[in-house]
Amino acid sequence: MTNASLAHLPLGDQRSGRFYGHDILSVSQFNRSDLEAIFGVAEAMRTMVQHVGTFDLLKGKILANLFYEPSTRTQASFMAAMQRLGGSVIPISEVRYSSVSKGESLPDTVRTLECYADIIVLRHHEVGAAAVAAQAARKPIINAGDGVGEHPTQALLDLFTIQEELGRLDGLTVTLLGDLKFGRTVHSLARLLSLFGATLRFVSPEALKMPAKVTDELKARGITHTEHASLDEVLGQTDVLYVTRVQKERFEDLALYESLKHAFVITKETMTRAKPKMALMHPLPRVGEISPDVDADPRAAYFRQMEYGLFVRMALLAMVLGKA
Ligand code: NCD
Repeated sequence: MTNASLAHLPLGDQRSGRFYGHDILSVSQFNRSDLEAIFGVAEAMRTMVQHVGTFDLLKGKILANLFYEPSTRTQASFMAAMQRLGGSVIPISEVRYSSVSKGESLPDTVRTLECYADIIVLRHHEVGAAAVAAQAARKPIINAGDGVGEHPTQALLDLFTIQEELGRLDGLTVTLLGDLKFGRTVHSLARLLSLFGATLRFVSPEALKMPAKVTDELKARGITHTEHASLDEVLGQTDVLYVTRVQKERFEDLALYESLKHAFVITKETMTRAKPKMALMHPLPRVGEISPDVDADPRAAYFRQMEYGLFVRMALLAMVLGKA
């Protein structure tokens, strides 16, 4: 495929676009047509990456990647996304080597980076930090995880994965498993799935149940959800099984963490009881919740999920910077 034959893709100057100049802070800001638009651009990005690898849509643009918490996938995929679009990146992933360790406030750090960059991707340990940064900044902020709050770009890539793997988003039974209390990815994903009439099943230890803040929102939107202590109660009807890690870093009582960390482990044997057509997902990193011998199962989507994340993050950068 030549560059000329890629001309039909929805890329180019789009300063009137829905997300141009906007912050991406929470999944609550999206409706169905927004998601269709993002996924359309993500498909175009996928085609571009597969055919030409890197292209110059964001040439001259600079992204600041500001990470106060550890990250492999989110950080690397935003970096790869910007570089595949011809832009460049200021990586601040070790804030202890930045002026943050001298006591600089988040608003001041953000005001600094926006002098050099066109967009800031922020991961922080406090709920609401991305909103605080967005208040301080003139340039767009993308929330890459705010403590136990939200992880909206992960939820977008999770939804895109479901669409690509199962071919549809409407009316699915989705089971969220593991640490539903501290896992920010499931807080965002449950909210986003409510736009598609999902039936939600929450499976967790009693101490790690989905917070009332999220379940109250789901109730208000008329979404059916049930809570379970055993996966067996729901596995046979599940279209998407979304497994999460018990979030060790959020526990004050490490003995409690140790007692819960392997409350649920997906094995080859578990998968014999799942539907023949379903998707097994995980935002990763996994630390024992899915046994490696499940990886060869065609339903194991978690490695493909990471790759879909690249296309979705490319789409978001292009849209926020007015080029898609
Ligand atoms: C998740 C996160 O940071 O919330 N990781 C990710 O971005 N893929 C999940 C986790 O750390 O368990």
